[in-house]
Amino acid sequence: MNNNTQTLPLLFFLLFLFLSFNHIHSWKKEEFRTCHQTPFCNRARSRTSSTSTPLIAADVTISDGNLIAKLIPKAKQEETQPNTNTNTNPLLLSLSVHQNGVVRLTIDEDPSLSPPKSRFQVPDVVVSEFHNTKLWLQRLTQETLDGDDSPSSVVYVSDGFDAVLRHDPFEVFVRDKSNGNTRVVSLNSNGLFDFEQLKVKGEGDDWEESFRSHRDKRPYGPQSISFDVTFHDADFVYGIPEHATSLALKPTKGPGVEESEPYRLFNLDVFEYIHDSPFGLYGSVPFMLSHGKARGSSGFFWLNAAEMQIDVLGSGWDAENGISKLPKNRVDTLWMSEAGVVDAFFFVGPTPKDVVKQYTSVTGMPAMPQLFSIAYHQCRWNYRDEEDVEHVDSKFDEFDIPYDVLWLDIEHTDGKKYFTWDNVLFPNPAEMQRKIAAKGRRMVTIVDPHIKRDESFPLHKEASEKGYYVKDSSGNDYDGWCWPGSSSYLDMLSPEIRSWWGDKFSYQNYVGSTPSLYIWNDMNEPSVFNGPEVTMPRDALHVGGVEHREVHNAYGYYFHMATSEGLVKRGDGKDRPFVLSRALFAGTQRYGAIWTGDNTAEWEHLRVSVPMVLTLGLTGVSFSGADVGGFFGNPEPELLVRWYQLGAFYPFFRAHAHHDTKRREPWLFGERNTELIRDAIHVRYALLPYYYTLFREANTTGVPVMRPLWMEFPSEETTFSNDEAFMIGDSLLVQGIYTERAKQASVYLPGKEAWYDFRTGNVYKGGVTHKLGVTEESIPVFMRAGTILTRKDRFRRSSTQMTNDPYTLVIALNSSQEAEGQLYIDDGSSFNFLQGAYIHRRFIFKDGKLTSLDLAPASSSNARYPVNNVIERIILLGHAFGSKNALVEPSNQKVDIELAPFWVQRKNSPAVMTIRKPNVRVADDWTIKIL
Ligand code: NOJ
Repeated sequence: MNNNTQTLPLLFFLLFLFLSFNHIHSWKKEEFRTCHQTPFCNRARSRTSSTSTPLIAADVTISDGNLIAKLIPKAKQEETQPNTNTNTNPLLLSLSVHQNGVVRLTIDEDPSLSPPKSRFQVPDVVVSEFHNTKLWLQRLTQETLDGDDSPSSVVYVSDGFDAVLRHDPFEVFVRDKSNGNTRVVSLNSNGLFDFEQLKVKGEGDDWEESFRSHRDKRPYGPQSISFDVTFHDADFVYGIPEHATSLALKPTKGPGVEESEPYRLFNLDVFEYIHDSPFGLYGSVPFMLSHGKARGSSGFFWLNAAEMQIDVLGSGWDAENGISKLPKNRVDTLWMSEAGVVDAFFFVGPTPKDVVKQYTSVTGMPAMPQLFSIAYHQCRWNYRDEEDVEHVDSKFDEFDIPYDVLWLDIEHTDGKKYFTWDNVLFPNPAEMQRKIAAKGRRMVTIVDPHIKRDESFPLHKEASEKGYYVKDSSGNDYDGWCWPGSSSYLDMLSPEIRSWWGDKFSYQNYVGSTPSLYIWNDMNEPSVFNGPEVTMPRDALHVGGVEHREVHNAYGYYFHMATSEGLVKRGDGKDRPFVLSRALFAGTQRYGAIWTGDNTAEWEHLRVSVPMVLTLGLTGVSFSGADVGGFFGNPEPELLVRWYQLGAFYPFFRAHAHHDTKRREPWLFGERNTELIRDAIHVRYALLPYYYTLFREANTTGVPVMRPLWMEFPSEETTFSNDEAFMIGDSLLVQGIYTERAKQASVYLPGKEAWYDFRTGNVYKGGVTHKLGVTEESIPVFMRAGTILTRKDRFRRSSTQMTNDPYTLVIALNSSQEAEGQLYIDDGSSFNFLQGAYIHRRFIFKDGKLTSLDLAPASSSNARYPVNNVIERIILLGHAFGSKNALVEPSNQKVDIELAPFWVQRKNSPAVMTIRKPNVRVADDWTIKIL
């Protein structure tokens, strides 16, 4: 061995330590590109309508049920010869119309003109059912819009809407027929459309780009696309996660707007992210919704997985000068992407729920989670060893705190080789899981996408032999640094590789795994410590010659998909998967849950978690949450308690902490704080039936579990920019407390009907901002008059142990003494619900009588899910007390009404009117009449 070979590994090791140290201990802004340092963004952002080449639509016709056209530069209209090395070749446009108000627009280069390569169109995001919703266009009509010289082509979308292709200048929009044909959403109304066509490299063309020490070869040259999108009659826009910022997106450019970066969509591992920034985090969903008082909501989705930057243009912006005097009630936006094609969807709304339904009809409904996974999760980097696991598990019981899942982070593995166990710390993993499972609990282990390049690691050996890794620009297996040191990354774009990966989760392959073990996918942006911007180089290569730049934002999505499908296979298609992922893309909702990554134990991070989770929900990803307590740093007990009180309402409820932080399991902060945390967790367990019903609603309609207030109260302007409070379903309003030692909170309760304090049952007027006194006991939560929800009030060790427990029904009466609500029940784990094995009830209270109706479609009775649970208590909020009895039919049984505690387990809980022990079966039809 010569000297070099001896010192080289040492140097690498030192370099790695240096990089890891930097990686963990500081987020350096300079590591990431600004728009200014990103040539395509810079070019697009400085374009004005007069410096853009105007395009016109030509040869407009109907073909295969679509409207098709060519887009040609206006000045070149007369030229017929294709031009091989400019940006002036005709582009192909196709517009299709789908049921329920969805219009799809694609624009790409013309393959018959032999572009150097075909551009990447993201596969496996649009669900197959969407293709069946296409309305086969038969004809178009032509009309000349006011002020135009040339015609526009118009096609029917639905009874209320048309889609219009304006020929000159080129513009596409959806218009509202019932509202004087006004535009709803439009593309290129400001003339900023630009499409850089692929070119053959000529002499003198230097397309390479550098950032810090990284060079991007860019063999196909500039290929970006940008255009403006306008949301008409809109006051605000929302969506495009993932950013740590407000729910209503702040303008990034325009008069009076402090110049800011555009919202960036580029999946990155951003350590210690700051709490108010348009900077792109771990995931990207290029879907934006608008909302306004005048019309309601609309939406726009661009299916494109390359880096995207989006400007929200402030009121008064115009495309030529940047400033206009024209008043407007619309929101203009500028969308810029580094590569790909135009594959865009317009959603007409008009309600916020309609837009979300329209979007999820394209990208898929959120998966129905297992019941255990919507309960409380306990995580830490790391639970050290089997003894630690046993200790933490038993402490939950000792302190009477329920939890469902215990998590193991990267240190449980043998040298960061996933699917392995450190056999000193975890010598008996299967037995450990069985012990936990005996209490009805589960475990989760982490499986990241970087594979340790270690010849003795069979997974690596097999992957490299099969050629399953992403390649670098020279065609060798890409080698980057991550937790294990030198690592390679599986090419998850390939269905074959995804299927192979999925097989690794079988019990034979994943030695030491058992049926109660589920999975956590982290670092899947992908995170590469020594890569440009801590990720994979854009010129790395995937199957089919796809450049990483084209697929980057979807890499983590494909990884999540492969893992989730692997778990389905592992359980022979009988067990719903649970996979938490950090990276996300459009469609992620079909594969599992998302958390908002490495937040910090600060009040402002608690606050921003709400708009972040709300935004994910608006874009289909309903099952999400933030690390309770904050990942970095040590929360003061008060912050931790407030975080539990709020986090208990996140759809995904997990506490997690960095390994440098002090231990912070719920019982470590003194008796009082333990009591407060226990109470917060108990509220979530009591509400599990309600949450599960809402998850089913999300699963069938796309409407998220956690909703902005304006989704429930679309005409209430006061709610449009409120992101400190939120709705859980249509019934509960939750207001976080985001400051230390808060004594008061201002809470706006929307609507005309009353609200009931969910702790005391006290009534509050709607349509008013209330100044409320707050105590440490809870954050303000209100139940909306006119709704009914279900609780399970007996506390157990885990959700599984609550299966046979009886229900409590809480009825919050409105001013007409009416209310209604739903309950969905199934086995909580299998796919049998797809065959009708579930209970779905609708409860209606009217004329002094509560009726339980079957909402499930008629199906053969043996497919029904058999349950014997009864309703043990019915609480009536807002009913005049006086009645002493109620009559249950058809059993013709009289039951007592009395004043009883609103929360039976809480000391001093106020007494409310309660029907005691009606003991009706939840699965049956019955009525209960107040006598
Ligand atoms: C980064 C993740 O965001 C964090 O939650 C995790 O604990 C660490 N990676 C270690 O796996």
